[in-house]
Amino acid sequence: MGTQPAERRQFASDNYAGICPEAWAAAGEANVGHVPAYGDDPWTARAADLLRQLFETDCEVFFVFNGTSANSLALASLCQSYHSILCSETAHVETDECGAPEFFSNGTKVLTIAGKDGKVDPAGVDWMVRRRSDIHYPKPRVVSLTEATELGTVYTPDELKAIWAKAKSHGLRIHMDGARFANAVASLGCAPKEITWQAGVDVLCFGGTKNGMAVGEAVVFFDRQLAREFDYRCKQAGQLASKMRFLAAPWVGMLKDGAWLKNASHANAMADMLHSMVKGLPGVKVLYPREANSIFLELPRSVREGMHERGWKFYDFIGWGGARLMCSWDTSPEEVWAFAHDLAGLAADVGR
Ligand SMILES: Cc1ncc(COP(=O)(O)O)c(C=O)c1O
Repeated sequence: MGTQPAERRQFASDNYAGICPEAWAAAGEANVGHVPAYGDDPWTARAADLLRQLFETDCEVFFVFNGTSANSLALASLCQSYHSILCSETAHVETDECGAPEFFSNGTKVLTIAGKDGKVDPAGVDWMVRRRSDIHYPKPRVVSLTEATELGTVYTPDELKAIWAKAKSHGLRIHMDGARFANAVASLGCAPKEITWQAGVDVLCFGGTKNGMAVGEAVVFFDRQLAREFDYRCKQAGQLASKMRFLAAPWVGMLKDGAWLKNASHANAMADMLHSMVKGLPGVKVLYPREANSIFLELPRSVREGMHERGWKFYDFIGWGGARLMCSWDTSPEEVWAFAHDLAGLAADVGR
């Protein structure tokens, strides 16, 4: 393919992508005249209503700037400082939020659970609760699940329900990090409610940024009681946007005609295409099942370095290592083909 590295869409992160037309247009439409500040505007009301429609329930909705704050503040609203949050050892809240969940909850401890393919399972939850019940152990209070996971896998509704049953038996709440929630819904072909409130999720952090927006995540409380004074938490944490309409309007653009699902389905399809083109190459090992918009590859060092030299950007440090290749709403089949073509050439050199 003829594109130069500087112009290419990359596979490093879905955060590398720009803003999709639907989100951009809605922000433009909102940029008219004066409206009340701090979320007291028609765009914020409409975005929250569209989310209630999407989830088919009367949830409470807040908009914040990014995923770290959404997760941290949502978790803080579920915990006291002496509690603990149980999550996978590859969970973003543990590995990539610089201690923000502990910070914003005044010290609630994050405890990790080993599991397969980036997932938590009911036995792991059970073990973490039962292993200690004395006063010296931070009392487990929440299970935090990432959907789709950091390793690109997806919990099915049945898997989530099994975790919920275990969590409920121990009096634990469920938080969902949905930075790539749209990709999970697209992958499963289910209704959003089936992997949230119908599977016991108390609060979802629904990611907009990776789905084609500039900034903005929705914190969706299915248990409205838990949302009490959440607006104060947002304000204190510097997450209450004064010009909230510009966080909210892109959500309207994404939700009103289904762009959120179209974008996610496209990103997943590009990851699927990439997966089928590289999976049999000599020396290339696919590390986890391809279920959402990423694949992870173990690559010979010379191949990895050769790809970087050819201008391809991707991360080697997510999860347990391996090259993470992430597709976005705007990844094109031509770029997938070009990447796979370069990879095949380098892999063949190693095999020779
Ligand atoms: C699983 C997951 N959760 C949350 C986030 C949100 O992070 P940020 O604070 O950068 O928006 C990310 C971003 O990489 C992520 O991958």
